[in-house]
Amino acid sequence: MIGKEAQQAQPAPSSLLVIFGGGGDLTRRKLIPALHELLRQKLLPERFAIIGVDRNEGDDESYRELLQRSAQAFMAQGFEQESWSALQERIHYLQGDFLDLESYHRLRQELERLAGERGIAPNYLFYTATPPRFFAEIARGLGEAGLAREPEGHWRRLLVEKPFGSDLVSARALNHTLHEIFQEHQIYRIDHYLGKETVQNILAYRLANATVEPMWNHRYVDHVQITAAETVGVENRAGYYDQAGALRDMVPNHLLALMSVIAMEPPNSMEGEAVRDEQAKVLRAIQPLEPEEVLTRAVRGQYGPGRDARGVPLPGYRQEPGVDPESPTETYVAMKLMIDSWRWAGVPFYLRTGKRMPRRFTEIAVQYKHAPNMKFKDSMVKRANIPPNVLVLRIQPDEGIELSFNAKEPSPVPRLRQVEMDFCYADYFGQAPSGGYETLIYDAMCGDPTLFKRADSIEAGWELVQPVLDVWQALPPRDFPNYAAGSWGPEEADQLIRSDGRQWRNLPTGPSDANGG
Ligand code: BG6
Repeated sequence: MIGKEAQQAQPAPSSLLVIFGGGGDLTRRKLIPALHELLRQKLLPERFAIIGVDRNEGDDESYRELLQRSAQAFMAQGFEQESWSALQERIHYLQGDFLDLESYHRLRQELERLAGERGIAPNYLFYTATPPRFFAEIARGLGEAGLAREPEGHWRRLLVEKPFGSDLVSARALNHTLHEIFQEHQIYRIDHYLGKETVQNILAYRLANATVEPMWNHRYVDHVQITAAETVGVENRAGYYDQAGALRDMVPNHLLALMSVIAMEPPNSMEGEAVRDEQAKVLRAIQPLEPEEVLTRAVRGQYGPGRDARGVPLPGYRQEPGVDPESPTETYVAMKLMIDSWRWAGVPFYLRTGKRMPRRFTEIAVQYKHAPNMKFKDSMVKRANIPPNVLVLRIQPDEGIELSFNAKEPSPVPRLRQVEMDFCYADYFGQAPSGGYETLIYDAMCGDPTLFKRADSIEAGWELVQPVLDVWQALPPRDFPNYAAGSWGPEEADQLIRSDGRQWRNLPTGPSDANGG
């Protein structure tokens, strides 16, 4: 929705949504709450239905009960019985095997039946909320059942969840398979970070304010830090995570998505392709690390036992349920990347992400260079002691934007103090910003691809990560675990940035940071 002009949002067009993995965690935690929210905001069409497809036995009634229980659990205060009832009567269940072609033929019959009985336009949105090994199979099944071809005047769209491949080769292969069945304009690859309100606001902030963009370049910016710190551990996802690791899980998708929005050139228009062209260009301009650079510019870590902010003991990664007790999987990554462009020449982008950090926060900190001169009075302060201006885009939680700058303390003795201007979403807009999925489902239904990854951006992300995967695979870690749960990651990550004369912005923690999401 970045590109939409200010306008009154209209309900999405009449359509049917099919969720493969309808009984799964993602559907229950994120998708159903997002659909509930869309309905509450009157953004779902009147003529609309959802079909959940999964292997387990069940019928409409048992499926609705399952979803209601999880909606109540995962939506905290947001659950409204009235909206739920309206959503629930549109929800259906189809027991099916993703690998069995016959299931897709039954799905087709069910779609045609519902469209006919309920007067729904035969526009179909297929969502792969399944483990990634099924993505290509689902696309094939849909193709075989004739559900990928767009009939005159109606659409067929495929929403593909992450992870999109597990390395460059598999991502290319998946793109190739999908393109044999669907056209690129029908494929919506999800990176839920792009759907976050605070991420969409980055472009708005950059481009709608005359004071920002003139200084958004190497002349004024010293460096950029992008942090996605989580307090949670591996949770109940060891099966996936122990194979993936922090690098695959967060970098080619979420962190590079943030970096591309920060670093892209202003697009010629806010149309989907123009925005995605600029994002793809900047990804291609990031210098891939040479194998020897991986050793000095990428750091991996794995948490051992530790304590949270309240002092409660936490297990190490290798002690988590389902994790190999000798697992070499990283739960922390830090990297230094450079962009080969006029705008960003010489400006390092430091990226880091980790599980079991002391505090949950995702932010982008743009640190400006020192003011060139500072001579109010000789006695005042040494230039080196004046903190630089930092602009922080707080993605979550506590969504907002802050700018720290220096002001003179009121006193006859000249003294500087760092002060802050702080904008909080909650103060201006009240409601909690969207977690991403509402926007993405709505945009896909409306046919707006702006916030979805194109095939070239996906591959450009993996091209950047591949050298690191290769070197790390060739040289298994010898020092894991190398940071304690509840700490800010391995010492090498501090060295990575310290050797450039800089330091990470580690936010203070308090007891409320324990066990956060
Ligand atoms: C997911 C990763 O894509 O993003 C998870 O697989 C991670 O490991 C999550 O926890 C973070 O998302 P958010 O919206 O909570 O920042």
